[in-house]
Amino acid sequence: MAFPPAFLDELAARNPIEEVVGQYVSLRRSGSNLFGLCPFHGEKTPSFSVAPDKGIYYCFGCHKGGNVINFQMEIDGLSYPDAVRVLAKRAGLEVPEDEQYQSRYRQQERLWAMHKEAARYYHKCLYEPVGQEALRYAFGRGMTKSTLTVFGIGYAPDQWTGLTDHLRKKGYTEQELRDSGLAAVSRKNGNLYDRFHNRLMFPIIDVRGNVIGFGGRVMNSEDPSAAKYLNSPETLIFNKRKNLFALNLAKKSKLGYMILVEGYMDAIALHQYGFDCAVASLGTALTEDGAALLSRYTDQVVLIYDGDTAGQNATKRAIPILEKAGLQVKVLQMRDAKDPDEFLKKFGAERFKLLLEESANRVEYQLNAILRKYDLREDDQRVKYLQESAELISTLGSSVRREVYGGRVAEAAKISPEAMKLEVERARKRRLVREKKEQEKIDLSPARNLQPKSRSIHYDNMKSAMAEEMLLAMVLQEPALLDQTEALKQEMFSSQLLGKVYGQLMERHRQGVEVSAGGLTELSAEEMAHIAGFLQRRRGPINEQALRDCLQTIQDEYRSASVQTEDDLLALRNRLKQRKGRKA
Ligand code: UTP
Ligand code: MN
Repeated sequence: MAFPPAFLDELAARNPIEEVVGQYVSLRRSGSNLFGLCPFHGEKTPSFSVAPDKGIYYCFGCHKGGNVINFQMEIDGLSYPDAVRVLAKRAGLEVPEDEQYQSRYRQQERLWAMHKEAARYYHKCLYEPVGQEALRYAFGRGMTKSTLTVFGIGYAPDQWTGLTDHLRKKGYTEQELRDSGLAAVSRKNGNLYDRFHNRLMFPIIDVRGNVIGFGGRVMNSEDPSAAKYLNSPETLIFNKRKNLFALNLAKKSKLGYMILVEGYMDAIALHQYGFDCAVASLGTALTEDGAALLSRYTDQVVLIYDGDTAGQNATKRAIPILEKAGLQVKVLQMRDAKDPDEFLKKFGAERFKLLLEESANRVEYQLNAILRKYDLREDDQRVKYLQESAELISTLGSSVRREVYGGRVAEAAKISPEAMKLEVERARKRRLVREKKEQEKIDLSPARNLQPKSRSIHYDNMKSAMAEEMLLAMVLQEPALLDQTEALKQEMFSSQLLGKVYGQLMERHRQGVEVSAGGLTELSAEEMAHIAGFLQRRRGPINEQALRDCLQTIQDEYRSASVQTEDDLLALRNRLKQRKGRKA
């Protein structure tokens, strides 16, 4: 989707990156950069940088980066055109008509409106005679009237086309109905019919407050083959991997942490009992996207998955995903009930609060998991228990924590704390040696180090690519230098990506428009992040000699790569000889 370049220039000019970022991150100046805590991963010391002169941001910790549009996309989970639209609105600019873009956005708006209408319809049905059973079911499961309102819970009647007809009456087309996932096409006659029948309906609402899908629960299942929950299919507006149930409410919580649970009902019960920071993943295991989304609103998560084996396994998988997103993880081990919903109803909020307070941090949880694996009455198992625990404890950075947890393990295995301490120290030394070796391996292979962090971008010719990066960094800092690179053509770049960037900058320079990283277009988020990364990392001299050196390297590498015949080779050798002569 292409916006006119002139419009994008205006957009960038009217949305200084430091201002846009400043709405989300508090920034402090340091030299020509501004620094703050990265909004995309949890951290205590600022590694998130903004370069107003270059129009880019870059996090030295998580390597996210890009221009102002990329930032708006990333922070709000928006598509490119939607981010442009938000920024245009912010700056009071009118978005130029582009049919394709307009129609896609309009399509989304229609789907949001349609889902809101559907939620209203379902909610209304709950209080009509047709919804009597459903309402009784909801009350029977302990939901209060206020909960039904807050969550907008509803009922999909046992009809073929109740909702479909209703939406048609509201002016939605057959195509729109199909695209929404709320109606499905009959295989028999091709007619549309409702997707959800006779289910208690939970609207799924995104952080911007749009209804984007539904989960529907069967109530009295005469048909045991019916799935307990039926969820909306993936649509233009619904991606279950990228959204969390109840986050629209939980993001306003004052509790300072988030609770992550498995089920709709768990999240709803927690909210009802005052834990308004609960969210649930959507009929799927927690994804990296889900964790990243969560980390925008908190840095501490309490995981409460079901007490069964499946829940335990899910917990094990979720911990590293959450930690990778920079979140501090605590795990609450469900006891005396299968899930939080059941627990709250059995024992109430006070008991739950106790459970929450003693909810173990990651280490305790993992130590317990190790403990459960072994029978400590057997000597060989006791040894294994001690070794495995020591290995885990040795990963802790603080000696106090190592001592505390070591002491606990020693007690459980009935050995002296000193012996345990020795075991932990040994494990720690082994680990440090191992880590040092790994680090050395990395340090010794500069080529690997310099390879782009992102998997989809790869440099085939490292020597040339480094010169290309340097050259781009220079001309972005000092656009006038582009006057001297006339001889350098886009196709000479060994990296297609860097060549494309160069081509765009050159084009702008020729047209006399401002040259900045902020004005780059047609690059993926990953590509922009990579570019922002090397622009922020490279601090070389900027002068004509340095520029000429880069130019030379790129051209030489290009020529030697395009050597095909003996004659080419000879010509190249001659050129190189001549140049050496000139330099000397
Ligand atoms: P559970 O079976 O634990 O359901 O599934 P629950 O939320 O505790 O609901 P109740 O208490 O039995 O009514 C946990 C989550 O897994 C997804 C749903 O998101 C559900 O909330 N799920 C489960 C499905 O998507 N489909 C299913 O058929 C079952
Ligand atoms: Mn349940």
